[in-house]
Amino acid sequence: MSILDTNKEFAYVIAQVAEVAGYIWQKGWGERNGGNITVRVTEFATPQWASMPALSEPIAIGTTLPMLKGHYFYAKGTQKRMRDLARDPMGNGAIIRITDDAAHYEIIADNPVMPTSELPSHLMVQNYLLESGSCYKATLHTHPIELVAMSHLPRFKASQSMTRTLWSMIPETLAFAPLGIGWVPYEVPGSMELAQATLKQIQHYDVTMWEKHGVFAVGQDIMDAFDQVDVLNKAAIIFMSARAMGGEPEGLSDQAMKDVQEIFHLPKSRPC
Ligand code: 13P
Ligand code: ZN
Repeated sequence: MSILDTNKEFAYVIAQVAEVAGYIWQKGWGERNGGNITVRVTEFATPQWASMPALSEPIAIGTTLPMLKGHYFYAKGTQKRMRDLARDPMGNGAIIRITDDAAHYEIIADNPVMPTSELPSHLMVQNYLLESGSCYKATLHTHPIELVAMSHLPRFKASQSMTRTLWSMIPETLAFAPLGIGWVPYEVPGSMELAQATLKQIQHYDVTMWEKHGVFAVGQDIMDAFDQVDVLNKAAIIFMSARAMGGEPEGLSDQAMKDVQEIFHLPKSRPC
């Protein structure tokens, strides 16, 4: 018996995680164990979940995150592959429960799969989303090739310059990634420093660059987080393709971008 059998809506959310993991592999963004996913699933918890015995000792988060007390999350397992998760989400990830001290978690289902090494970033951002009353529940870290390549170029090492170039490639980038892209200077993967810098950027942006590493994104669900990264990476591919054709892409004018923002009433902050 799997925890997926306890609740149909919950099983749908995990199936969506598996679907996105498959896309990430197909796009070449998930080499080996690259990337990770966390989704808050507390709303699907049945009384059965509360009485499930822990499959692990309580494990320290490394910080106290008061908003997370008693919450449940699906988390990709560390060293697990996106392409394997696509087939078997509960064999390559686990459901964790945050303990009452809000400083530890325990694994409750289906197997004792240790969560991702980037859990500090995922949980610190999840804590912020709850604190700010946001309806966003999913967090995604992935390695999109062209965006990571862009983060190596000195002229794009700032949120403003990278956002402007990406937005100016096609109007849809502006429409579907209306908050732009944040910038986190290089930090050691899995570190608290990386998590803290990510948290700062996620207060303003749905997607932030991790310099020379990848992106971290939030969404109402995991498909939403994936879509935003996909839209931004598509713009990076157009930029790169134009340069490969022999010149510097012109980009939409400031006026053209302003018009799109006004005509489509694009939001300047998260809708919820
Ligand atoms: P995990 O296998 O621990 O999730 O790490 C993958 C990764 O991309 C680290 O940044
Ligand atoms: Zn990574």
